[in-house]
Amino acid sequence: MSQRQLFVTTALPYANGNFHIGHIMEYIQADIWVRFQRMQGHKVDFVGADDTHGAPIMIAAEKAGITPQQFVANIAAGRKPYLDGFHIQFDNWHSTDAPENHDLARQIYRDLRDIPESEGGSLIERRTIDQFFDPEKNMFLPDRFIKGECPKCHAHDQYGDNCEVCGAVYAPTDLINPFSALSGAKPELKSSEHFFFKLSDPRCVAFLEKWTQDGKLQPEVANKVKEWFTVRTNPDGTTSEGLGDWDISRDAPYFGIEIPDAPGKYFYVWLDAPVGYLASLKNLLDKRGENYDAYMANDKLEQYHFIGKDIVTFHTLFWPAMLHFSGRKTPNNVFVHGFLTVNNGEKMSKSRGTGLDPLKYLSLGMNPEWLRYYLATKLNNKNEDIDFNAEDFMLRVNSDLIGKFVNIASRAAGFLTKRFEGKLTQSFGEQGTALLNDIHAAKDSIAQAYDAREYGKAAREIMLQADKVNAYVDQHKPWDLAKDAANNEALHQVCSLLINAFAELSRYLAPVLPSLAQAVESFTGTSMQNWNATGNVASIQPYQHLMQRVTPEQLEALFEPPAVVEEKVTPGGEEIAPTISIDDFAKIDLRIAEIVNCEAVEGSTKLLRLTLDVGEGKTRNVFSGVASMYKPEDLKGKLTVMVANLAPRKMKFGVSEGMVLAASHADDKTDAGIYVLHPWPGAKPGMRIH
Ligand code: MSP
Ligand code: ZN
Repeated sequence: MSQRQLFVTTALPYANGNFHIGHIMEYIQADIWVRFQRMQGHKVDFVGADDTHGAPIMIAAEKAGITPQQFVANIAAGRKPYLDGFHIQFDNWHSTDAPENHDLARQIYRDLRDIPESEGGSLIERRTIDQFFDPEKNMFLPDRFIKGECPKCHAHDQYGDNCEVCGAVYAPTDLINPFSALSGAKPELKSSEHFFFKLSDPRCVAFLEKWTQDGKLQPEVANKVKEWFTVRTNPDGTTSEGLGDWDISRDAPYFGIEIPDAPGKYFYVWLDAPVGYLASLKNLLDKRGENYDAYMANDKLEQYHFIGKDIVTFHTLFWPAMLHFSGRKTPNNVFVHGFLTVNNGEKMSKSRGTGLDPLKYLSLGMNPEWLRYYLATKLNNKNEDIDFNAEDFMLRVNSDLIGKFVNIASRAAGFLTKRFEGKLTQSFGEQGTALLNDIHAAKDSIAQAYDAREYGKAAREIMLQADKVNAYVDQHKPWDLAKDAANNEALHQVCSLLINAFAELSRYLAPVLPSLAQAVESFTGTSMQNWNATGNVASIQPYQHLMQRVTPEQLEALFEPPAVVEEKVTPGGEEIAPTISIDDFAKIDLRIAEIVNCEAVEGSTKLLRLTLDVGEGKTRNVFSGVASMYKPEDLKGKLTVMVANLAPRKMKFGVSEGMVLAASHADDKTDAGIYVLHPWPGAKPGMRIH
């Protein structure tokens, strides 16, 4: 097979926080593929970079009292422990704020802008649009920084693009009483000239229909993309036909790249972000003294991007169109993965992640290759979500890696070292030779699985071979053979076969377990760098532990919530109750009630008997433990709030048909009192509280 030249990237993480386990999963997926391709003898350049631009990072930097440049530099400084820690071997890590990216992004833009009429004309268009402007901050507000009342469900404090309460999608201009989340000021509508990339141009549509539907993309991805050619969702939730033009500019102040010949206008972050792939590559080539243009001009060059399912539009529409119409090479493919969840938790927040802190994992001394293997067993070439499950993790690692794989070596090595000075025989007997041939025969199918990113399949096939080896061990029982010197030759054969089988399996696992493979290389003296390495093991070094088991204690420590350092403040004497969903809340029917009558309860110093009207055309009888605070005449005629759908409760003094809301401290002894809730004027009996 001829040597291929591959240029591989992972998505560029926003430089607004440290890596979370979702990022690490993406890097491990790509790193396994890259290592596999290198073992095949192909040449791979594997690069990443920080995605530094955009309003959120600018605003976060301002809050932190530092420049955005300092802010992203701080984040960049924290990347290495994660990458090294999980054996993720990028050839280069760069930044979208680096000079290479400024130059490349501006050049690509100019090329799109200056397409001659003879070739269909410019794909950049200027258009004036109305946008919310913060008069105090003197800036146009990104959707996420405008808040207000949802036009649909009237929930307060909702973002400018969609309501987190009812899920409605709308434009920021639809919000009721909008305010700037930055200053609190009332935003003003102001018009501004924006730059658009004309994705709706027939040239783009024709090109993209072909590029996305020619069979290169994963089928589920291609199908999703296909829908975007027929309908799209507008910012206000309505739909239009076909691809829409893409707004690629933002007004100053903006942390980004200034648009050529347009002072005060900046590229929207998603324009220059993917250009960062090329910028990082160029930076790498410059360091190596290679020429970027010559490198890209190689028509054998293959370009692949590993990304998550949330950023498919950018990578299958905008990015290939930008490249193609600026006269550049388009990606050979985009490999889309699903999202990682942890212990069946909800999808991790994109910026924070939850559940599994990668650095904590490492600091507990947990082996990074456990995680690499576990994720490999779960990964395939679909964009399905996968879950990290602690028990499943321990089981997979301990039963596969330790039980089936590493044990092969540890069982055989001792005898070889003690009895045969570490020297191996080259004759394995008929059965042993057949077994070794079997393992060799699985090589191509395992290779195909890796190449197709079907790592779960590769792992299963490797473990199938390991099972055969273990069956051979159980049949030949080296520990029994060792009891009688007459069996020396058989013992030598069995153990030598086992070490050879182990070396071959280690090679198959090397893309996933690079550090273990290296240890096996020293142990057996056979190369783990070359997928097709041949030749038997001649001798071994004394066996040293290759891998420990996962312990339940480690997992417990990993998921133990971080110790709270500050003294805990408990509002009102009790912890805030566990989070509930809006649906849970909606089950409680709270109504405004008029206290039409109120009287003392004979025989009780605590209770008052309330007669409540919640607009049902009848009244309700409710007991409330507020006699220590109120006289009946204090409450009579007042409005309050009641739980109207509480099951009636039989009490000593009668049936209570609901509950009045009252506030108190959790600890009676504080003598803080109990206070009946009272709505603001205007509320009427029967109104529901939302
Ligand atoms: N900055 C953009 C990408 C620009 S690429 C030119 C971005 N950054 S991100 O930090 O939010 O995400 C980076 C990558 O991590 C994306 O591919 C995203 O899909 C992936 N993941 C984020 N959370 C993830 C999981 N929970 N699981 C797996 N991958 C996840 O998007
Ligand atoms: Zn709403």
